[in-house]
Formats: sequence, C-alpha cells, structure tokens
Amino acid sequence: MSSPIQAVRGMHDILPPSADDGKGFRSTHFQFVEDTVRRWLESYGYQEIRIPIVEDTALFKRSIGEVTDIVEKEMYTFADRNGDSLTLRPEGTAGVVRAAIEHSALRQSSHRWWYAGPMFRHERPQRGRYRQFTQIGVEAFGMPGPDIDAEVILLTARLWKALGLRHVALQINNLGSADARARFREALTEYLRAHEPQLDEDSRRRLNTNPLRILDSKNPQVQAVVGGGPTLLEFLDAQSKTHFDGLQKLLDLADIVYEINPRLVRGLDYYTGTVFEWVTTRLGAQGTVCAGGRYDGLVAQLGGPETPAIGFAMGVERLVELVKEEQSMPADPVPHAYCVAVGEEPAAQAMTLTEQLRAAVPGLRVTLHCGGGSFKSQVKRADKSGAPLALVMGESEVERGEVGVKFLREERPQIAVARADIAQWLAGWLVQRG
Ligand code: HAM
Repeated sequence: MSSPIQAVRGMHDILPPSADDGKGFRSTHFQFVEDTVRRWLESYGYQEIRIPIVEDTALFKRSIGEVTDIVEKEMYTFADRNGDSLTLRPEGTAGVVRAAIEHSALRQSSHRWWYAGPMFRHERPQRGRYRQFTQIGVEAFGMPGPDIDAEVILLTARLWKALGLRHVALQINNLGSADARARFREALTEYLRAHEPQLDEDSRRRLNTNPLRILDSKNPQVQAVVGGGPTLLEFLDAQSKTHFDGLQKLLDLADIVYEINPRLVRGLDYYTGTVFEWVTTRLGAQGTVCAGGRYDGLVAQLGGPETPAIGFAMGVERLVELVKEEQSMPADPVPHAYCVAVGEEPAAQAMTLTEQLRAAVPGLRVTLHCGGGSFKSQVKRADKSGAPLALVMGESEVERGEVGVKFLREERPQIAVARADIAQWLAGWLVQRG
C-alpha cells in the first residue's frame, strides 16, 4: 500500500470538533472569531466584497513593491495554460483596489468594505506563520482625515474586547509625505553606510534597494545600530504632523492606549502617512495580529482616480491562537437533542419528526441518528454527542403517537410527550434553559 498523502507544508486543515486531534485548528474557533468580527464590521457600516484568489502577477508587483520580501521571495507565482503569469494572492488590498477601479466605484463619495479569505505566502512555516493563512481585512476609501484612521483603530480595539483578548498592544507611526520619506531615506542611508560593517548581509543588501526595511530588522545587532540613527518623525512634514496629532487626540479622547513606534515602517510599499500594528507577546515571534495603515497613492498608481484610503488586515490563525491562550471562547455548540429510533417504521417517522421540529422550533439543534444499530448503541452515540436530551422513537412510541424524552445529563426519569405537543414542549424547554 502506498503511504497516505499529507497536506502541503505550511498549509493546514481546520477540523470539526469531532475530528480535532489536538494537532490542527478547530473550525468552531474560526467561527467564533469570524462571526464576532463580521457582526461588528457590519455595525460600523462595512460591506462585504469578495475578490478572486488569483490575480495577474503584475498587480502585486505594482502595488506591494518589487523590492519587498513578499514580491521578491514569497509569492506563489505560476504560468497558466495560456502562459499568463498569475499569482495566488498574498494579501487583499491590491485585489480590492483593482476591483474598485475596475467597477468605477471610486467616483462616488466614500466606501467602507471588508473581506475575508485565504492568502498565500511562501514563508518559513512556524507557529503563527503559515503558507496558507486567513485574513479578515477592511479597506475604507475616500476619507482623507484622521477621523477615519481613528475609527478604524477604535473598531479593532472593540474587536479585541468582543473576542475577550486582553494582551494586545497598539503601536502607531506616521510615514510622512513622499518628500519627507525621501529626505529621511537619504539621512538613514548615510547613517547606515557609516555603520555598514555592523549590519548583517540582508541589511547590507537592503541598503541599496529598500533601506527603510532595515528599520524592521529582527537582528538585535542591526536593531542596536538602527536605534542610534535618525527617525522618521524628525523628518515629518507639517501636514503629516497635523494629521498625526489629530489622530492622537482622537485616540486619547477614546481612551485608547498606544505607543508611538518611530521604527514601524510595514513591509509593503504602498503605505503613506498613518501606519499601525496590534502586537501580542503571547504568541512568540509572530506577535502581530493585525496591521494596516493609509495608502493614499495606491489607487492612482494602479490607474484609478486620486483616492485617499486606509485599511488593515488581521491574521485569523493568530487570533484563534490567542483566543485559545486566553481561553476566551464559549464552549463548542452541541445538539440540544439527539433522536434515536429502532426499527424501520420508527426510523422513517423519526426523520419526519426531526424535520418538523427544526421548522417549528427556532434555534433548536437536533441531530437524527442515521445508520441503524441497537437502542443501546444509539443512546451511547446520543450521550457522546453532548446533547442534554435524547428523543426516543420505538415501535411502542409510534403506536401510541408519542415521543420519549430521555434526560441524558440529569437524574430524571424518561417521560413520554404526545407527538402533537413535542414541538411546544421543546420550545418551552429551550426558553427555560435560557
Ligand atoms: P500584513 O502586515 O502583510 O498586511 O498582514 C496582515 C496580518 O496578516 C498580519 O499582521 C498577520 O496577522 C497576518 N499574516 C501575515 N502573514 C501571515 C502568515 N504567513 N501566516 C499567518 N498570518 C499572517 C497586509 O496584508 C495588508 N494588506 C493590510 C492592509 C489592508 N493594509 C491596508 N489595508
């Protein structure tokens, strides 16, 4: 026999609780995060957009930037059967902007959009870093002021509260105008050239290609060099400074705690002005759970009208890990009732009964036993399902027009309820249970 094929390295299954072997992810955790986030996004007026998983490779090169880790070494790029170069999306912003331009959406005032789905980056897999991962992101178009920056950050803060996450901290920075950035780049390059021998190979290479990315280096020796150098904030132009002050004022007013990190530059080239990251120390090296910022030039750069924009994306796997760490998720849902039926006629009637109950009792979760077996083995299954009730259909129940109700988690004798009354009985039971 040949050995079984396994999932691709860095890509994972998200399993139902009944198959969770402790090694993978559990779907109910994802549902908790995704449902909570979706609910709050809608309450802030965000509307969903769905875009393809595959785009023209040129889109990512033009938006994320040729000299970035993502484009240089992490993209899943392939030629399709026509020889066109396509890429599995490594992030959502580029595709959303492409779609907005393609559908002429940016001629109208402003938009608040959100999206969710898998992204692909060929990174070295480790805890919290995968080759296929899930992002939920938002993109807000047409609003130039610090008010939307603040609202976007307030929204994320609210999400952490709703998810029960206490150990995340906010860092903000402002990248300044293109001019300010160019002047800073010059000063930084000059300073780093003077310290070139202390830089590692990667940073030395970046000195010629993308020196700002050296600020992000995880190498402690490089960090120490960078620490003594110029900072972006010293070069900030007047307009960016006013914007940044405005944002801080709004965050202070909302009691949002933040740290100004002048070395926060982000790994994608399209950012302008405000940038931010939410970071936790609870997940080891991959501690950024959510990140984003302004990208006021990207729409025009991709051929659309001049449009100010801001957005962010959160890594759902990282949030799931954090939810597990902080044990903030309610218990997995179990069925309220598991219906067991022995014999051909009772089994057929049990199917009709469970269909009727689902239609008649809103919110009722009822599982029908399928696959036959003895009464004893079926009750065992009912018990294993976690349901508090078993609905029993045997020959005698069918004859008498009744349903047996067995209490699986209480010391209470089985009762018989008339078939005509069982929906009402269950509805009452649900209400009493709260
Ligand atoms: P990003 O910082 O590249 O930004 O990714 C956002 C988040 O996605 C990260 O903070 C992290 O939580 C998660 N993430 C990234 N790579 C991985 C990975 N390999 N495995 C697991 N999680 C990962 C963007 O993607 C921008 N498009 C965000 C944005 C939207 N900016 C403006 N609008």
